[in-house]
Amino acid sequence: MRSPVQQYLESIVEQCSGTEGEVASYIPELAQTDPDRFALALATVDGHVYTLGEAETCFSIQSISKPFTYALALADRGFQGVAEKVDVEPSGEAFNEISLASDTGRPPNPMINAGAITAASLIAGENTESRFARVLDWLSGFAGRDLEVDEKVYTSELTTAHRNRAIAHMLREFNILHGDPEEQLDLYVRQCAVSVNTRDLAVMAATLANGGVQPVTQRRMLEPAYVERVLSVMATCGMYDAAGDWISAVGMPAKSGVSGGIIAVLPGQVGLAVFSPRLDAHGTSARGVQVCERMSNDMDMHLM
Ligand code: DON
Repeated sequence: MRSPVQQYLESIVEQCSGTEGEVASYIPELAQTDPDRFALALATVDGHVYTLGEAETCFSIQSISKPFTYALALADRGFQGVAEKVDVEPSGEAFNEISLASDTGRPPNPMINAGAITAASLIAGENTESRFARVLDWLSGFAGRDLEVDEKVYTSELTTAHRNRAIAHMLREFNILHGDPEEQLDLYVRQCAVSVNTRDLAVMAATLANGGVQPVTQRRMLEPAYVERVLSVMATCGMYDAAGDWISAVGMPAKSGVSGGIIAVLPGQVGLAVFSPRLDAHGTSARGVQVCERMSNDMDMHLM
């Protein structure tokens, strides 16, 4: 017999039909995605995971990697070391805006691309390969299983990343990035191409909900002070130029990605993940937003 939680998740999906929007196409490989894929997963802080739809189907993590690499940069460099390079102010701009402070070049926050490329550049390690190995290990630790890179998505994005390449070179000009900006761009593009499924994302979100301890493996991934910072930045900047709409309607720290994933975190309780690749005008899953709004209303998940 299906549990009440499972029955509830099924009813949600029926109510949020999600036929609007198109899949991302500026990364050519993403244009191949079946637009009508759908999955939903809910992970509790005591390690229960409820799923619906294609929760084991993998897709590239894209911008949902950003809060986690920001977390690794914080763990590597501390608050001060990171703050020197990237601020925590919402920009109210699109994710790919060429947004750098006019005097210092410091990006406003680590959720937009400029700030995320900067955060990736702060990951410690001897060379790009060992630094990326640490990123992959880090994301795998949150997911509780060994993740891999989707090489097709990686190559597809790297060869068409003209805008991010321009941003990386601008950041280098301001000495926000050090070393070869192409290497920092490569690291960022690789982190975006890490392949995850909706279940992984829910557990990753639940790790943040659980104060930094992965709820299935019980491994401590992040200190509580850094969890607090990551969630603050997700709440204020995670949805870019729709951050105000999102926090008003859903009321949880969250992050979206152009492949169609969304995570939301209810501290002390659950991590939520939705996958539906049709995007709205902000590059966020249209059906994913609908589902999160609905669940937040039904279950009183709004934190404010
Ligand atoms: O940098 C990019 O454009 C992509 N790798 C990630 C963008 C993204 O996921 C924006 N979020 N909705």
